[in-house]
Amino acid sequence: MSKHNIINKYNAANINVPECMLNWMRSNHAGETGAVWIYMGAKCIFWNKNIQYMTKQHYETEKNHLIIMSHILPKNYHSKLLILWRILGFGLGFFSALLGYRFFCVTIQSVETFVEEHYQEQIDFLYKNAISFKLLRVLEKCCDEEVEHQIDAKLHKGNVKNYSFVRFWSNLIGSGSSFAVNISKQY
Ligand SMILES: [Fe+2]
Ligand SMILES: [Fe+2]
Repeated sequence: MSKHNIINKYNAANINVPECMLNWMRSNHAGETGAVWIYMGAKCIFWNKNIQYMTKQHYETEKNHLIIMSHILPKNYHSKLLILWRILGFGLGFFSALLGYRFFCVTIQSVETFVEEHYQEQIDFLYKNAISFKLLRVLEKCCDEEVEHQIDAKLHKGNVKNYSFVRFWSNLIGSGSSFAVNISKQY
């Protein structure tokens, strides 16, 4: 799909970001950058067919999200730390995939649970204040697709044995992501 088609598919043409959403949108753009790089990292684990299969599908969606965010948010508002988000995303994808399919699924489920809340918070804000219905619709579509990833990962992780470790890892991802969002809202 061409960039033009993707923008049409998400109804993302001609959206002006309201000033109150600029920081949020910077964090969305940074987050989608990280997401794309998570899957680029996971792609390196070429010998694991399950990881390859999941990665291929999710990667396409995350690439679309990144195209959409880059299109909507003017370049001068992009995060100054994109290199950092790429490195962190790649590292997370690479190392969690290296630890196997289940661990990778737990990681993706945790990341996407965070991302769902992150988008939902913005959607609620836009609804409540009746700001930019067009932007709201775009965020809703992205959020729905993040939920699909989350469910996909949840279905495939199977029965996790070491429950306390999984909870620890999920919490770590949650607080790490929230830290990254706060930084990327500013820089
Ligand atoms: Fe995404
Ligand atoms: Fe995602």
